[in-house]
Amino acid sequence: MSLDLMAERTAELYAKCFGHSPRWIAAAPGRVNLIGEHTDYNQGFVLPMAIERYTVFAGDKNTRREVVLHSMTTGDTASFNLKGLTRGNPSWSNYIRGVTANFMGLERKFPGYQAVIDSTVPSSGGLSSSAALEVGAATLLEAITHRKLEPLEKVLLCQKAEHEFAGVPCGIMDQYTSVMAQKDHALLLDCRTNTSTPVSMSGSDVEVLVINTTVRRRVGEVEYAKRRAQCEEAATVLGLPALRDASVADLSAAQASFDPVVFRRARHVVTEIERTLQAARAIAAGDWAALGQLMYASHDSLRADFEVSCLELDAVVEIARQLAGDGVLGCRMTGAGFGGCAVCVVKSEATAFLTRRFQELYEYRTGIQPEIFHTRAAAGARLLA
Ligand code: GLA
Repeated sequence: MSLDLMAERTAELYAKCFGHSPRWIAAAPGRVNLIGEHTDYNQGFVLPMAIERYTVFAGDKNTRREVVLHSMTTGDTASFNLKGLTRGNPSWSNYIRGVTANFMGLERKFPGYQAVIDSTVPSSGGLSSSAALEVGAATLLEAITHRKLEPLEKVLLCQKAEHEFAGVPCGIMDQYTSVMAQKDHALLLDCRTNTSTPVSMSGSDVEVLVINTTVRRRVGEVEYAKRRAQCEEAATVLGLPALRDASVADLSAAQASFDPVVFRRARHVVTEIERTLQAARAIAAGDWAALGQLMYASHDSLRADFEVSCLELDAVVEIARQLAGDGVLGCRMTGAGFGGCAVCVVKSEATAFLTRRFQELYEYRTGIQPEIFHTRAAAGARLLA
């Protein structure tokens, strides 16, 4: 579905629910990470791009001190009072409660508001549906309050909402991408300085396929926090501020002082940061074969050293390797792991054929129907009306 059509549908439902047309329509994209996984919270580099999948808010302020949100994807409504804003139900509303609370901290005259929300970002798929929800809400609130945030301030406000209201100690990549992404570009984001360099993907004859395994292991959140703690422990063993500062040689020299599991976690991060920098150079040079090899190496490291993959993600990557001769350039799991999606870079002319082949082969191997779509790099959040 096109973004225009989504906006139209969301506005129509808003008018039905609230009796007048929405004053504002805001959209924020999901993202796919090409490479640089579990490196953001180690102050390393990541290389994500926004996808042509969005969360759309049609909204307006109201005269009460109340927020009313209707979700077209879940079909339920959340309403909460601005006074004493806390976590609550439904759980998706926590991302918006958090953004609202943080916005209220900035803006004294904060009105109540209401919105209808639609989304084409698959939820729980590792494509940052939560960041799209946060950034979409922040974009709507900027319009409603006439207070435009500095882009990085907006990113940090949304990240804080996720930490405090969803209880997920995420890095900065997802919110940063949803706010800052540029059409036809990936972003090489330095998660130490929180600055990025756009890496052009325009004019290339490659496309990105996103393959959703449709499985999600519940252990994901607990394991994510564990991985973060192990990475911090590794930096402490090395006496460094973050794993960003370590080289492979530093790690090898100190191997005897490490718990073997923590050593492997650190080895993933240190090598992944290096692969990410190489990948940005490969894209800039149009060397897609080199990018592909780096993506496979990333997946192997995430599977064996960081242990965040799963059988279904491994199956997708094995199928990708089999299809190398048919136009697959590279493939890896994307996002936090434990299910969710794989990202695959393919030759554009082979997209339709490969979509069918992945569909057949993944279902054959796992008995599960995957959800597959292709996308170009999209722009970040914006007001549509
Ligand atoms: C999740 C987090 C990100 C990042 C990835 C793993 O998407 O929200 O900050 O840590 O996992 O790369």
